Amino acid sequence: MTQTPILPGATIGFLGGGQLGRMAAMAARSMGYDIQVLDPDTSCSARPIASKCITAKWGDTAAGAALARECAVVTLEIEQIPVETLDAVAAITPLHPGSGPLYIVQDRARQKEWLRSEGFPLGGFKTVTTEQECVNAVRALGPSIVKSSHGGYDGRGQARVTESFEGANAFTGVGGGCAVVEAFLDIHEELSVMVARSADGAVAVYPPSRNHHTAGVLTWAVTPGGFASETETQAMALALQITERLGIVGLLAVEMFKLTNGDLLVNELAPRPHNTYHHSERAHATSQFEQMIRAVCGLPLGATDILVPGAIHNLLGDLWHDGIAPDFAQALTIPGVRVHLYGKPSARPGRKMGHLSAVGATPEEALARVQQAYELLKR
Ligand SMILES: Nc1ncnc2c1ncn2[C@@H]1O[C@H](COP(=O)(O)OP(=O)(O)O)[C@@H](O)[C@H]1O
Ligand SMILES: [Mg+2]
Repeated sequence: MTQTPILPGATIGFLGGGQLGRMAAMAARSMGYDIQVLDPDTSCSARPIASKCITAKWGDTAAGAALARECAVVTLEIEQIPVETLDAVAAITPLHPGSGPLYIVQDRARQKEWLRSEGFPLGGFKTVTTEQECVNAVRALGPSIVKSSHGGYDGRGQARVTESFEGANAFTGVGGGCAVVEAFLDIHEELSVMVARSADGAVAVYPPSRNHHTAGVLTWAVTPGGFASETETQAMALALQITERLGIVGLLAVEMFKLTNGDLLVNELAPRPHNTYHHSERAHATSQFEQMIRAVCGLPLGATDILVPGAIHNLLGDLWHDGIAPDFAQALTIPGVRVHLYGKPSARPGRKMGHLSAVGATPEEALARVQQAYELLKR
């Protein structure tokens, strides 16, 4: 399907105005688009960038329709939006990605079952809907992670278990209902691949990012990832196949694990900008945010080459003490470092408040720079 390009000057709607929406909206603004946002939070991060914010719950189909009526295209920065709202939007204006792929991706169990049915490589897992099924799953899989099927992110809604009897508490602990029990994997390296796809089928794949998580939350990411070249080729091919099989228009980030035994497995999918590609604003010829705008507007996709090594380090609310922000001037003493803040009004431990980015002559140098700058903020 070819799409007449939606040219700068038009209005783009965003479902979700968190930090991903904010950064994508800034890229769209740079290109000359107008932005409107729907988000339940009156002080959402994208508010200062949008010419209009609709404050409404995700399930408010009338609010979705109201956004759609004023926009040439609607995209999103969060996938957990009820299908009724997605359909209300899509009945009025193009929605990218569409509700078909979003329905599959937005629920962890459905996403994993779909990946398995399509033959993509995954770790052992079982979908469970009762405490007893959870206990049985842990007995079969051994040490596991129980993950809620709905709404978990940044390691939230997850519980690690080693013995099967712990499965009952873990199931209720993550909220009951439906959960995925995953065998605990012996991970050697974590990587992600970002893919952009347009309605006419054009695709652009980014080289893999190397990612480091602490207690389930991304700490830093760096590119080039420095993986074995066959790992990179395999990871990029996998991500592209998944994107095409899902029929994504927009972005798809594919998180992967390289195990110590050499297996490359898919962890999870995100049909939107992703924390592990924030360095694309510095390192790549086209940032993930601009790429998303190009893809959903039917513009030619931008080059994904790495122009210079780049890294990011997340800034969590833990760095704020009694509401007082760390001394960002300190971070800026390190060459190549930039500070990115999301304008969130209050800091809480674990809350993503911003990130540091840096470029360097090598990926090691770019990473060392954000780490050094981060250490200065911890004082
Ligand atoms: N099956 C697993 N075995 C070992 N570590 C895991 C497993 N699943 C997740 N993790 C670790 O936890 C992190 C967050 O898990 P993930 O499923 O990606 O949840 P989220 O949706 O919160 O990002 C991963 O990036 C990885 O570091
Ligand atoms: Mg993840």
